[in-house]
Amino acid sequence: MNEQQCALLEAQINKLESISTAPAILQPLLKMLRLPADDIRIESVVEMVSRDSAIAAQCLRMANSPLFGHRQVETVRAAVMALGIAKVRSLLFGLCMHQTIPKGKWVLDPNAFWRHSLGCALVTQTMARGIGYREPEKAYLAGLIHDIGFLVNSVLYPAKFRESFQHAVAEKCPLYVAEELILGFTHEDSGRLLCKRWGLPEELLAAAGCHHRLDVLPTAGPLVCLVHLSDLLCRVRNLGYGYDEVLAVALAHDPAWKHLLIAYPALAEVDLVRFTLDIEGSMDEIATLVDSVFASDRRAATPAS
Ligand SMILES: [Fe+2]
Ligand SMILES: [Fe+2]
Repeated sequence: MNEQQCALLEAQINKLESISTAPAILQPLLKMLRLPADDIRIESVVEMVSRDSAIAAQCLRMANSPLFGHRQVETVRAAVMALGIAKVRSLLFGLCMHQTIPKGKWVLDPNAFWRHSLGCALVTQTMARGIGYREPEKAYLAGLIHDIGFLVNSVLYPAKFRESFQHAVAEKCPLYVAEELILGFTHEDSGRLLCKRWGLPEELLAAAGCHHRLDVLPTAGPLVCLVHLSDLLCRVRNLGYGYDEVLAVALAHDPAWKHLLIAYPALAEVDLVRFTLDIEGSMDEIATLVDSVFASDRRAATPAS
């Protein structure tokens, strides 16, 4: 993407909020995402979640999901206590993103998109814990939002993005390759600019903006490398964007893997066969959670706070 294209895209993204339907809690939530989780009071999170009945209901469904190991949580407060502030704000951000896309504007299948994003969040976090990365919750958030640029492209450039998707399906190629060809930029470019517009931390900008960029991965920091590897693992294990890609993955030769191995020698101990089997074991739960949380536009009754 050249400078002129970048300026044009940035101007379009700045207009995004006026043409989308961002929930009222988005702005306070963005403020919360800029703070360390330890500086946030549980009461402010509970109050924020309780303001939107649909989001409160979705938050409860997540807290009760086997994926997060909790059951029989009946109030928003209990959900926040059970999941922890960092996890709740990540999940809320995902829910806000989902609501931001007007009905009928989705180019990708929303279920496939959220299964991929949630799968990537879980894998990034698990891998982060496995290697001793200092902020596994940040890794979860980075995995969840890494493809946020697809949502931007769906809203701002629906015809060309649809054409990109159709091209990727026909050629069985990665979607970013088709975007580059047809749009002249990728969801990484638009995702990074949206994260920048929202004042998100630099590491998240990089995770959204460089996760396919093998040339810059080694200098982009460990979080981006983790997201890149998780994205690949999810795509080869049928948690991609809802179409078949021809993907040859050799993790041991991947620049991100080599780079991480230097900084985190514990990565060498990660049993990848076991790890990918674990992902497959969670796929049904991921699908169930996504179907119950993101696939529904129904407004549930307001849960108790
Ligand atoms: Fe991507
Ligand atoms: Fe991805």
